[in-house]
Amino acid sequence: MKFVKSEQYDKKFLMENMMGPNCLKLLEELINTIKLEKSMRVLDLGCGKGLTSIFLAKEFGVQVFATDLWITATENFDRFQSVNLNNQIIPVHADALKMPFADGFFDAVISIDSYHYFGRDVRYMDTKLAPLLKKGGIIALAFPGLKEEIHDSIPEEMALSWSAEDIDTFHSCQWWRELLEKSQEIEINSVQEMQGFEESWSDWLLCENEYAVNDRAAMEAGAGKYMNFISIIARRK
Ligand SMILES: C[S@@+](CC[C@H](N)C(=O)[O-])C[C@H]1O[C@@H](n2cnc3c(N)ncnc32)[C@H](O)[C@@H]1O
Repeated sequence: MKFVKSEQYDKKFLMENMMGPNCLKLLEELINTIKLEKSMRVLDLGCGKGLTSIFLAKEFGVQVFATDLWITATENFDRFQSVNLNNQIIPVHADALKMPFADGFFDAVISIDSYHYFGRDVRYMDTKLAPLLKKGGIIALAFPGLKEEIHDSIPEEMALSWSAEDIDTFHSCQWWRELLEKSQEIEINSVQEMQGFEESWSDWLLCENEYAVNDRAAMEAGAGKYMNFISIIARRK
């Protein structure tokens, strides 16, 4: 797949601010089947250092609420100012389990490499996330997963970089589909493996970020053969 938009971003800026596999490439692939319009209010959930928020604001002109737990609003505000997007992107420091937004506030929620941390509880979608969307609002999620469930016997390659607790956040497409099909509030359009797995991982592993360095052992030993990136597109009923 060609990542025409992502390739135009400054590589140094991306590498300094990536917090996992190249989030712009994952985002570009994730949203290529959905329509974002200038008038939309978008929740970028678990935005990290806000690269995806910058991309959404720049490429689509939408208003973005860049929400994250580990990165402060002040740090992200500085970054959004540095790219002159501080009027279009609102940085928010919040836990996905306790967000400070009104019900029905957003036209879309987009979440890259984050939902697997907090969205594994079957009640999460209906009680915490779906209520924040307008009726018909878009849900677009991309996060790391597995080709098959391996939790009964964790492959040694994966254990080189990740604890059992880390690996517990990874699941197969089927696992996620079964979980989200229990939701009363959303309609699922697709749950599928993403094409950009290899490329987004190789960009990430070149970073000198300590987490990227930690991830190298597993990926160099071949852990990628058990893994994928999963995209989910759904709508609020
Ligand atoms: C691997 S980083 C990815 C960041 C960014 N989306 C990217 O791809 O560069 C995971 C992000 O999930 C966020 N996160 C994890 N648990 C969260 C929670 N309970 N509420 C909000 N954000 C959370 C973290 O703050 C972190 O920035």
